[in-house]
Amino acid sequence: MDKLVIEGGVKLKGEVTVSGAKNSVLPILAATLLTDDACVIKGVPVLRDTYSMFKLLRSLGKNVEFDKGTVTVTATKKAGFFADYKLVSTMRASFCVLGPLVGKFKKAKVSLPGGCVIGVRPVDLHIKGIEALGADIDIDAGYVEVKADKLKGSHMYLGGVYGSSVLATDNVMMAAVMAKGKTIIESAACEPEVADLAEFLIKMGAKIKGHGTPVIEIEGVRHLHGAIHHIIPDRIEAGTLMIASLITNGDIHLKNVCFRHLGALIDKLGEAGANITKSDGSIRVRRKGKPRAVNVTTLPYPGFATDMQAQMMAFMVITPGISVITEKIYPDRFTHVAELNRMGAKIQKEGPHAVVEGIKELSGAPVMASDLRASACLLLAGLAARGRTTVSRIYHLERGYENIEEKFQRLGARVWREKE
Ligand code: UD1
Repeated sequence: MDKLVIEGGVKLKGEVTVSGAKNSVLPILAATLLTDDACVIKGVPVLRDTYSMFKLLRSLGKNVEFDKGTVTVTATKKAGFFADYKLVSTMRASFCVLGPLVGKFKKAKVSLPGGCVIGVRPVDLHIKGIEALGADIDIDAGYVEVKADKLKGSHMYLGGVYGSSVLATDNVMMAAVMAKGKTIIESAACEPEVADLAEFLIKMGAKIKGHGTPVIEIEGVRHLHGAIHHIIPDRIEAGTLMIASLITNGDIHLKNVCFRHLGALIDKLGEAGANITKSDGSIRVRRKGKPRAVNVTTLPYPGFATDMQAQMMAFMVITPGISVITEKIYPDRFTHVAELNRMGAKIQKEGPHAVVEGIKELSGAPVMASDLRASACLLLAGLAARGRTTVSRIYHLERGYENIEEKFQRLGARVWREKE
């Protein structure tokens, strides 16, 4: 296992290109199960999670070839319907093979993904939506088994206790595209990655309207064909790099970003003293005067993303004043708090809130991350800290950030990988 070593205190400067969105590519790869034709996906990031999805697709009878950011998925003669625990448990997004398998074959047996360090993460909304399409569902021995004579379009409400669900919307949409008749999903997730999946499905021949809004309308079709698609830029990677610029008092130009996917973050960072300017699909991020403490509440898109909460906290930790960070999607997603406090931060956790009292400077320390975005937060904290920080269990970062240390090195950061 590798760890990341960071010598903090360097102002990051230069240009960096953001990779394709992890949360887009995973369901889009799963959607290739809906056809026997070849599908070509471009702008695919080299991530641990993309390789996990390749493995799962191969276990379900697909050929997957990956070359220079382009994935070609073709069918073999042996289609499978069984997604094994060993493959699904490594990554929650694996569960989104359920929808396409049910859509195409009207049957599937997929392992339940289980919880993880950021919270319980149930799948009741996925089940509710697929059941509404007329499928029989049996949950036994850690597996969800689905059978349907036929799928029938339905009008459903897919909101849960914490609002809409990204992967449940993806799953139900992928089953409904091949159901008979019309499906309406109310309280659908509006995340750009859900809209990107819908765009891919439309290229495959699906009839979808309203994607990117809370009401998605789908008219089922009998057949879907192959398609070529380019993945949207990763807004969470972009956001992480934006905070890297601010936290080090640097000046970073980001290429391959979609400005309109970053509204809530740009607004909050502006309030916190950032100067963010855009030109031609690229943005420049630097400070404007002294940073200011801001309160942040995570919400479903277009609200402030829960996947940016930990990184924002790293910034607030060294910003003078009091900042209250409220987590409304995953109330337990605060594993980074204790580690930041080990670096000298002053954070008090109160239920789903973290009260951050900004300090002047963090001091480097050995820290351990337990999930993807918490790792990104600790990397950012290390970049801003005095002295040396080591972030253990770097495989979490590799799940969602492509060439992370090379990108930071190119911006001038003193960061490298070592064996644990
Ligand atoms: C996706 C993202 C993840 C992000 C999350 C929230 C992918 C691959 N992952 O995860 O990076 O942090 O959205 O933006 O796209 N819930 C239920 N019942 C369900 C499903 C979810 O109650 O059946 C709850 C969850 O526990 C959570 C909230 O709904 O509180 C939102 O979760 P959801 O949008 O489903 O997250 P994922 O799709 O798993």
